[in-house]
Amino acid sequence: MEKVIDGEKLTIPTHVAVIMDGNGRWAKKRLMPRNFGHKAGAKAIERISSDAKELGIKYLTVYAFSTENWKRSVEEVSGIMNILRDYLDICIKDAEKNRMRVRVLGDRTALDKDIIDKIEELEGVTSVYDEFNFNIAINYGGRDDIRRGIEKILADYKEGKLDGNITEALISSYLDTKDMPDPDLLIRTSGELRLSNFLIWQLAYTEFYFTDCLWPDFDKDELIKAIRYYNGRDRRYGGVK
Ligand code: FPP
Repeated sequence: MEKVIDGEKLTIPTHVAVIMDGNGRWAKKRLMPRNFGHKAGAKAIERISSDAKELGIKYLTVYAFSTENWKRSVEEVSGIMNILRDYLDICIKDAEKNRMRVRVLGDRTALDKDIIDKIEELEGVTSVYDEFNFNIAINYGGRDDIRRGIEKILADYKEGKLDGNITEALISSYLDTKDMPDPDLLIRTSGELRLSNFLIWQLAYTEFYFTDCLWPDFDKDELIKAIRYYNGRDRRYGGVK
């Protein structure tokens, strides 16, 4: 999809994935506890989901909590879970307003029951929308996504639902992102240059954009900068143009 933004014609990526890093540093700069940064990070998610829709992005996937984040202090983890609770309540209202379908990626079975209930309600209520898809990765790990997918493939094989012919498309259809296109653009904030186990299968041909901007400061202008960068890339998918 093409769109004119500030007088410039830009191709809008269909699927944008975001590693939201830098909440801790943002809080530290203000001499505040880390969870103050996570709270500001959740506000930034609220803003960016509606900005992304407005810009014509069809899928936005954000990395809110990784399978490795449990290693943080009990105080920080429980703080993030409380922010998540509040965020899910806000999200259900926003979703109705913005007509966005929300899905949660990752292994939710490890989350508290009340959070699982909120997620199920959010996914159920918003499943009628298809204009904009917003995915939140919680207790998500790319390796764990593949591991869980293999478990399901094995179970279906044993039940005779699969014939043992394993194609890439089959594997994709057993991941949390089944039915979604792979991301076109990955954004990572706060200057770190790594994947941190995010969507490792799905990012095979994705363009990467890194910015020093800390996640709570990330806004629509920063998103447009990332899209502009994406427009300067030459996607060859391993071929020659
Ligand atoms: C990284 O900042 C951020 C995360 C742990 C994931 C993103 C979390 C949020 C945006 C807040 C929670 C929101 C929801 C909806 C659960 P960091 O702590 O690694 O920052 P640092 O590298 O500066 O320490």
